[in-house]
Amino acid sequence: MEQEQRRGSGGGKISGQLQAIFDKYRGQQGTLIPILQEAQNRYGYLPREVIGEIARTTDNPVSRIYGIVTFYSQFHLKPRGRNIIKVCQGTACHVRGGKKILNFIEDKLGIKPGDTTADLRYTLETVACIGACGLAPVLMVNDDTHGRLTTELLPWILDRYK
Ligand code: FES
Repeated sequence: MEQEQRRGSGGGKISGQLQAIFDKYRGQQGTLIPILQEAQNRYGYLPREVIGEIARTTDNPVSRIYGIVTFYSQFHLKPRGRNIIKVCQGTACHVRGGKKILNFIEDKLGIKPGDTTADLRYTLETVACIGACGLAPVLMVNDDTHGRLTTELLPWILDRYK
């Protein structure tokens, strides 16, 4: 069972697992990014409260933490879906209907790139090129690449990911 603790002058509640991350890096230099990475692995994203606690514990301004988190695309400030859809919008995919593929998925899921469905099933993103131009138009769901897409194929592909 997760044990809640209080620490720091801010008095914020933090989970035992967040405390364990702080303990792991205590006294070391240059640990802010590893701490953020581990916290994100723990929570799936970086909730505001967690960023506040990291700022307090590492003695950094919250604005600096947000600066880092928004600079690196690996960090996320909103919950992410169980399945990450990346629709390629690179040149090869664009000329072979990549925009139509994206529009179809937007309509079907009711979300725009950067958003997550309310049931946390899907997060939709776009990418510039995933290196499979010969299969254009292409998308990825998690680690799976799907190429030579048509809008007829999309419902079947999306249904595979619960
Ligand atoms: S442009 Fe889409 S895979 Fe390269």
